[in-house]
Amino acid sequence: MRIDLISAVPQVLESPLQHSIIGNAQEQRAVEIYTHDLHDYSDDKHHKVDDYPYGGGAGMVLTPQPIFSCIEALQAERGYDEIIFPTPDATRFEQPQANKLSLSQNLIFLCGHYKGVDQRVREALITQEYSIGDVVLSGGELAVLTMVDAIVRLLPGVLGNSESALTDSFQNDLLEGPVYTRPAVFRGMKVPGVLRSGNHHKIQQWQHKQSLQRTREVRPDLLEKFNNED
Ligand code: ADE
Repeated sequence: MRIDLISAVPQVLESPLQHSIIGNAQEQRAVEIYTHDLHDYSDDKHHKVDDYPYGGGAGMVLTPQPIFSCIEALQAERGYDEIIFPTPDATRFEQPQANKLSLSQNLIFLCGHYKGVDQRVREALITQEYSIGDVVLSGGELAVLTMVDAIVRLLPGVLGNSESALTDSFQNDLLEGPVYTRPAVFRGMKVPGVLRSGNHHKIQQWQHKQSLQRTREVRPDLLEKFNNED
């Protein structure tokens, strides 16, 4: 998979892309990620990428020219499955959307900034818009990183244990139960005995029960979905 990220502040993207799972995925060549600074595509003599909104109001709007130039330059090199724009006024990005996008060859993510992006970009270039939740972030970078992380960890070979992505919370509409590691006793707090019993059947039963209990406590809406599945 190839992912191109377009941003007016690519510095914000740097560290999360270089470390941990996404960093390892690039080292293993499961994904190639390229960041593009919008300022490099601006025809303006000061490399400006934003301007005041028509009609007034607070905040700046990303201008269309650098975005069109950048996306057209990328499209001249290869086809893209989707050109994605994160924005709070869009449908929700959840696990099924991550699963589907993880099957793509080439993706572009455009990070919004300040007040937003000129509507003509959204209409002419963007093929998919997603919100990561009912909360407003100051820029699209963190929303894009959230989506990229959710997608990349699903790529073959990226997680050490190939089963772990499939048993995640949300993959079957249930939240994951508690997990423990060594030591067996820490400051008097014990790891549940069943997890140390070696009885795999009993462990699975316990984990499922914990999973149901946790989901019932914090996300009863998910439990309803789970119960309605055949
Ligand atoms: N940009 C700002 N807020 C956002 C959100 N909630 N989801 C996606 N992109 C955003």
